Amino acid sequence: MLGIQEMAITGKVTPLQFSAIVDPRGDLTALEYEKDIPFLIKRVYYLYNVPVGAERGGHAHKQLRQVLIALSGSFTVKLNDGAGIQSHFLNNPRCGLLLERLVWREIVDFSHGAVCLCLASEQYNPDDYIRDQQEFLRQVEENTRDNGTPQSN
Ligand code: TYD
Repeated sequence: MLGIQEMAITGKVTPLQFSAIVDPRGDLTALEYEKDIPFLIKRVYYLYNVPVGAERGGHAHKQLRQVLIALSGSFTVKLNDGAGIQSHFLNNPRCGLLLERLVWREIVDFSHGAVCLCLASEQYNPDDYIRDQQEFLRQVEENTRDNGTPQSN
């Protein structure tokens, strides 16, 4: 991505583990505000019918917080917070990935039939997107100056 080293992105990206009610008729996972998801969910969307080789994302958000879940199949989430990069392979509907604001994300390597569920803290707002990598780095720097650390939310 932005040519910086692979290293932990502390505080900006949190893997989540959900419980499941396992049943011979099929498993069930329920997600509740506070217990499982740390923000009130104002929007849900999902990516599906993604052609093999296609890439989604390619942006960061100014305020939005999100949880990504591989409801079916698998994909890789490539992340950059301006200080480090990280990749997460998601292939389990009992696992989520919490992304805080100001994290550049690219979602790649979708398997055939993969479904990516996105739980979002805000309604859709095109003004919340940062689609330019240089602008993203500028906003990370500004945020670091204002808060004293790149990990501050
Ligand atoms: P975008 O967020 O760029 O997709 P991704 O990051 O997954 O590749 O959105 C693609 C298009 O869909 C864009 O025209 C905006 C529109 N869109 C909505 O109308 N509502 C939504 O909630 C989302 C996420 C996207």
